[in-house]
Amino acid sequence: MSAVHNKARTSSNPERAHTGTPIHEKVLKTLAELGVRSVGDIQQLFYELSQTLNDETNSLVIKGAQSEAERERMCKTFRNRWLGRKSGLIAQADENWLKAAGTDWRRDVGRFFNDLRALVEGKIAALPTEIRLHVGVGSAFADTSSPDLTLPGFRRTLGSVHPVTQVMREIEDIFLGLGFAIESGPEIESVYYNFDALNIPESHPARDDWDTIYVNPETLLRTHTSPVQIRAMEKHGAPLYIICPGKAYRHDNPDSTHATMFHQVEGLAVDTDITFADLKGTLDYFARKFFGDKIKTNFSPSFFPFTEPSGELAISCVFCGGKGCRVCKESGWVEVMGCGMVHPEVLRHGGIDPERYSGWAFGLGVERFAMMKYDINDIQLFQQSDIRFLEQF
Ligand code: PHE
Repeated sequence: MSAVHNKARTSSNPERAHTGTPIHEKVLKTLAELGVRSVGDIQQLFYELSQTLNDETNSLVIKGAQSEAERERMCKTFRNRWLGRKSGLIAQADENWLKAAGTDWRRDVGRFFNDLRALVEGKIAALPTEIRLHVGVGSAFADTSSPDLTLPGFRRTLGSVHPVTQVMREIEDIFLGLGFAIESGPEIESVYYNFDALNIPESHPARDDWDTIYVNPETLLRTHTSPVQIRAMEKHGAPLYIICPGKAYRHDNPDSTHATMFHQVEGLAVDTDITFADLKGTLDYFARKFFGDKIKTNFSPSFFPFTEPSGELAISCVFCGGKGCRVCKESGWVEVMGCGMVHPEVLRHGGIDPERYSGWAFGLGVERFAMMKYDINDIQLFQQSDIRFLEQF
């Protein structure tokens, strides 16, 4: 994004006025000084603080300690930084945010504050066992010439494949089994491939600075994997059966269902005589294969500039079996992907004659699939590198 865009954004939106300020400086300011206007803003502040907490513990854990004494020192410094009586971050949040909050906000701030303090205390309690000692061969043998060979060896913990990667591979396997090939494209994409070639007009809201992360006016971090449709058509022509798993980026505020970076799988089939029945049959087969034979699928009309007609595929809720629950908002159905027949204009942009060929396409969110499959309620967990979360998969 260019400096000009940045500037415009900061000055026209007071809530973001402190976006660049590090959190340890923010705790020195009162909520009024920070220009907080809503409970959401306060929640965001505490969220940033908890992110910092996670980042700092993770880096200590990754670093490890050379000796027992060093580990003790690390824990002590960390404890002081967070729980120090006067200048600890918690004490400062207490002083400047909680004590200085007006009666309107006192309850919410109190709740966020208590949650955060509990989180900090939990981290501090866990830290001494989480920071491992680097007992390398050298140091173990350092002060003795005859090592005790009867001692057990050093065991390294095995990592595991990230749940998003696992789900992505599972989706890939299903489509590979149907004869689709895997295609990829750049994450830093041109406005042409991301929007124009996909029939997304200049006036479309998705092109807005506020939603899209621009590198410069002609280049951006792709907002979806759909540009790969055009690239694949240009490269291979028709007939074409591909999927494209990859990252997509949006200027969204992080919450439990939004992340600035997430993963999609795009699908595209182009051939002679492709009809909507092919799309329905394939996606119905895919959904059952992924979520199990018990689920039902439902197609409903939707709109995307690059497909006509466009649809939304919903599956019967995997949590309540379609009876209605919190996850499906009592509807019994959960929308899982956008799809449709490739717009003739899009085929033309890909160099394919729409009089001869037709096609269908879909795009799905991988995190969303993983969240449904494993009953995960916060998309942020995928990016926090918390081993306690990751080792469950
Ligand atoms: N690109 C769309 C999105 O990100 C999804 C989509 C892909 C819809 C292909 C239709 C066809 O929301």
